[in-house]
Amino acid sequence: MINSMATHVVAGEPEGQPATGIPFFSVRDIHSYYGESYIVQGVSFDIFEGEIVALLGRNGAGKTSTLRTIARTDSPELKRGEIWLAGQELHSMRSHDAARAGVQLVPEERRIIPGLTVEENLILSQVAEPKGWEFARIYEYFPRLAECRKQEAVTMYGSEQQMLVVARALARDLKLLLLDEPYEGLAPVIVQEIERIVAGVKDLGITTIIVEQNAFAALKLADKAIILDMRQVVFQGSAREVLDNEELCHEYLAI
Ligand SMILES: Nc1ncnc2c1ncn2[C@@H]1O[C@H](COP(=O)(O)OP(=O)(O)OP(=O)(O)O)[C@@H](O)[C@H]1O
Ligand SMILES: [Mg+2]
Repeated sequence: MINSMATHVVAGEPEGQPATGIPFFSVRDIHSYYGESYIVQGVSFDIFEGEIVALLGRNGAGKTSTLRTIARTDSPELKRGEIWLAGQELHSMRSHDAARAGVQLVPEERRIIPGLTVEENLILSQVAEPKGWEFARIYEYFPRLAECRKQEAVTMYGSEQQMLVVARALARDLKLLLLDEPYEGLAPVIVQEIERIVAGVKDLGITTIIVEQNAFAALKLADKAIILDMRQVVFQGSAREVLDNEELCHEYLAI
């Protein structure tokens, strides 16, 4: 790790934040394991409501594992630390309770259910309370999904599938959206389309953590950046600071 890039925490409260300064979402010194493998090694960060955070770092840095820990999947297992969302203790929840509390993880592999139409995929996302957006609102926001509502979802283009998984998250009571590599495997022209979806999520004021290999694309949208290396946070600051710091971009982000 480059010394000058030791974890840097922005002093004071970001502009426009409430006077109390209590973050909407907080990860405090989390440690998680796949079996005996110690993977997330003391990660901490705070996010204010409505912020978009780019969680970046090289392959194997621990980005997916951090998202999975936040979403409280069984693996990796959280053994130490706290995770708070709007006053709720996620660290003492299992994944279904975390989902109920408003954490929606969109994994890299998207997990669209084969054999089901677009609409059936949406219906399935609302089998458990609490519900989020009504379908009418979803279809108004994503007219392309309305057109394809009767189509088998796995036969749609990658960008449309990405739209569907974001729509599925909106159909739940969404407080924190976790996007793992939404641009993965998509052609550059399609990436622009997904960028519009994520920018839309930002306009809606939904607090989002986006993990991306395409760091530049993520930083363009993000307010804040967190860089992981060797499964620990090595930088926290504004997205602008990262884009302006050639050494940081080169060392950790291959841009
Ligand atoms: N199921 C697993 N069992 C054991 N080790 C795992 C498992 N999944 C990931 N790891 C290890 O945990 C470390 C972090 O992996 P993780 O997938 O979180 O990284 P990442 O930053 O998301 O990487 P990438 O950019 O490749 O997606 C890696 O060393 C990886 O080999
Ligand atoms: Mg990953």
